[in-house]
Amino acid sequence: MSTLTEFNYSGARVAVIGASRGGIGAAIARDFQAAGAEVEITGAEPACLPEDAERFPYTQLDVTDPDAVEAFGKARDELDVLVNCAAITRRGEEMEPAFFGRVLDINLVGTMRCALALHPALAARQGRVINIASMYARFGSPRNPAYGASKAGVEQLTKSLAIAWAGDGIRVNAIAPGFIITEQSARARQDPDFTSSVEARTPLARWGRPQDIAGAVLFLASDAAAFITGTCMLVDGGYSVV
Ligand SMILES: NC(=O)c1ccc[n+]([C@@H]2O[C@H](COP(=O)([O-])OP(=O)(O)OC[C@H]3O[C@@H](n4cnc5c(N)ncnc54)[C@H](O)[C@@H]3O)[C@@H](O)[C@H]2O)c1
Repeated sequence: MSTLTEFNYSGARVAVIGASRGGIGAAIARDFQAAGAEVEITGAEPACLPEDAERFPYTQLDVTDPDAVEAFGKARDELDVLVNCAAITRRGEEMEPAFFGRVLDINLVGTMRCALALHPALAARQGRVINIASMYARFGSPRNPAYGASKAGVEQLTKSLAIAWAGDGIRVNAIAPGFIITEQSARARQDPDFTSSVEARTPLARWGRPQDIAGAVLFLASDAAAFITGTCMLVDGGYSVV
């Protein structure tokens, strides 16, 4: 039985913030484009991956720069879907106070800055916001305390914005990915014991792929999810229910 669902995003405008490095954001952007959407992407780097540069308009946008984020929002009149994907983490370095603050500024405050800047454009289209959290929003994370705190903040912010913007017809949801193979997880994956312990604990017995997250994002942004707002959907192969 194949139950693969096709979504139709023809005519939709989509912005994916934090899609420059070929990871989860890029997979989301590619799937929205394959479903017919007009997609643009951003990242902290001067350029995105060459294969994505051919597909998408790219803006270098530092989400910790309030003026740049505001200008990005003002330049867009209408937006159907905003995906907030920009984040950093550095295993073992996040007890240092200045770096702790930097992680919060990118992952949590950056998400809020982008949502606020694009709120008028989203309201113009009764749009949808999808914030990328993490299962570390719910677990303690001794080597990534800033990351965990920032993602818990993203999950909580998702609930508040869902209530605040429901009157504008905007739905706001989050995804909490489990362990996914991307650049961000490359450092952790250098540890073979860790890599195999993730597989051993995950009921679906593998690391996730960026496309696994993209499918859930396209669902939450679609009319199939018309009565879903303020939720945070775990996409982790069952890791967190063990
Ligand atoms: N990879 C995983 O295992 C995993 C698990 C759970 C959640 N996530 C989340 O998924 C999202 C995407 O992660 P990924 O694995 O694709 O990571 P990635 O490192 O490939 O992408 C992160 C993106 O954030 C952008 N970014 C970083 N600092 C920025 C800044 N100051 N301003 C603007 N953009 C900035 C980068 O340019 C990049 O485009 C993140 O929110 C991450 O926390 C990843």
